[in-house]
Amino acid sequence: MSSVKLDMEPARVDVRPMHEFDIPVIAAIEKSAYQFPWSEGIFRDCLRVGYVCRVIDVAGDLGGYGIMSVGAGEAHILNVCVRDEYRARGFARKVMLYLLDRARAAGMSEAFLEVRPSNVAAARLYHSLGFEQVGIRRGYYQATVGREDAAVLRRVLTQPK
Ligand SMILES: CC(C)(COP(=O)(O)OP(=O)(O)OC[C@H]1O[C@@H](n2cnc3c(N)ncnc32)[C@H](O)[C@@H]1OP(=O)(O)O)[C@@H](O)C(=O)NCCC(=O)NCCS
Repeated sequence: MSSVKLDMEPARVDVRPMHEFDIPVIAAIEKSAYQFPWSEGIFRDCLRVGYVCRVIDVAGDLGGYGIMSVGAGEAHILNVCVRDEYRARGFARKVMLYLLDRARAAGMSEAFLEVRPSNVAAARLYHSLGFEQVGIRRGYYQATVGREDAAVLRRVLTQPK
């Protein structure tokens, strides 16, 4: 008796370099994910100045992105975002681990990032990757009313996670 395969094959998920032609799609994801999104121009500038800009490619579909600067021994994670319909599948963790590996390979000894204390999902992601809070930047973020503080998180890169 022949069996019928009902399960779908898991989609192929890769982290690949971001290109200029990705930016309109990235800007649309950014707009749907953040109340105060980056403009297309900011993404173009990130590519132009040579930041580590990567996208999460889900079987040819752009599922999210991560951007990092490196220099003077420090990596700065500047943006990590996953499209709503692709969340809770480990994609943000995948791109973060990729960026941390790249930072380590580039000889950086620490990684830093800022997060809104109200962003529980992102804060949990970062803490699960070994980031710890080392400070607060008062009024760092635009908010609906006034400004919101940023928690500054740091991870030492000598130990792989
Ligand atoms: C934060 C964000 C990037 C997480 O992306 P994701 O692909 O869904 O995350 P992952 O599936 O890789 O989850 C990794 C970990 O993050 C945490 N996490 C993710 N979503 C969460 C949620 N809704 N609630 C609580 N914790 C969450 C968990 O620790 C999770 O680990 P677990 O699955 O073992 O519990 C995504 O929600 C997003 O794009 N948000 C909007 C943009 C944003 O806020 N970016 C961060 C700016 S600092």
